[in-house]
Amino acid sequence: MHKFPVGVLGASGYAGRELCALIAQHPSLELAFASANEQRGQRARIAGQEITYVAAEDARLADAEVVFTALPHGASARWVDDARSAGARVVDLSADFRPGTEIGRHRGVPYGLTELMRERIPGAQVVANPGCYPTAVLLAIAPLLMEGRVVPGATINVSAASGVTGAGYSPRPDLLFAEVAEDFRAYSVGNNHRHVAEMQAVTRELGGQNNDILFTPHLLPVSRGILATITVPTMDYADDPLSLWKECYTDEPFIEIASEPPTLRDVVRRNVVRISVTSAANVNQPTLIIISAIDNLVKGAAGQAIQNANVLLGLSEPTGLPT
Ligand SMILES: NC(=O)c1ccc[n+]([C@@H]2O[C@H](COP(=O)([O-])OP(=O)(O)OC[C@H]3O[C@@H](n4cnc5c(N)ncnc54)[C@H](OP(=O)(O)O)[C@@H]3O)[C@@H](O)[C@H]2O)c1
Repeated sequence: MHKFPVGVLGASGYAGRELCALIAQHPSLELAFASANEQRGQRARIAGQEITYVAAEDARLADAEVVFTALPHGASARWVDDARSAGARVVDLSADFRPGTEIGRHRGVPYGLTELMRERIPGAQVVANPGCYPTAVLLAIAPLLMEGRVVPGATINVSAASGVTGAGYSPRPDLLFAEVAEDFRAYSVGNNHRHVAEMQAVTRELGGQNNDILFTPHLLPVSRGILATITVPTMDYADDPLSLWKECYTDEPFIEIASEPPTLRDVVRRNVVRISVTSAANVNQPTLIIISAIDNLVKGAAGQAIQNANVLLGLSEPTGLPT
């Protein structure tokens, strides 16, 4: 069977390693190169395949049909342009080209929130893969926004927690096991996390009418997974709160609508978002509580990137992905 050669820049990081593992199991993709920075020249065994990390400068970009960049923000944009110049299409996992950034706005790069925006992807040269928290939040609130059910001007509150792989592989004293284990803390308090601009921009695009996102992330002492609790003031009371989501996401293999609040165990190592919706009791205004769970490295990063690459390459969207 024909296999498309694909390359991974930043393959020694958490998202990059996940990409290499998914590529190894993909029936129609093969790894053309895997780059690293400080780990350049080192060997690794990922999902049964032996990989030698090359420096990004030595990666044969022209050998790849699709290049995934799993590089840090700010370092990625230059490599996206180099891969494009070499003739490859690019799925960029960094924030460099996402909605809410100047360069994203300027270049009109399509946003790869696949289920909602897949028609923009097939002819794209570059796809901006969504952030992990925005994936969990935007897929959860999109049905309400698109149906005009959110109270205009109301604030959408998001309290979310992520496992420590969300912070990347670079060593940091505050992420040492002894600092993180058996504790739980908020960070970026004050609505200034990088993902706020991305969520605000897409919320507006999906039909939000002056709706702010008020986002407080937390660090959860597990390796992977995101759980977001979202409260949304709505125009009316819902008799059957789940029906809108079931209707909106019919036939979506990677979106699960659940009658019970999801947990991380439901989603880790799977390319799915699992969502529950409950009406709030004991409040004066109609309010929905939406709980959304994903694996930050799969649906929140590498899995969604492969989903977008499948669309770019004309493959069936779920090919090679763990449901
Ligand atoms: N982690 C997540 O949950 C997640 C989710 C969604 C999106 N993302 C995005 O995906 C990207 C990668 O995240 P990550 O968590 O995997 O990061 P990471 O673990 O820190 O990995 C970064 C990778 O980039 C390489 N690198 C670092 N600086 C470089 C430079 N100046 N030039 C070339 N290569 C360089 C690193 O190589 P060495 O290790 O050899 O130095 C490593 O392979 C980020 O933009 C991040 O925001 C991450």
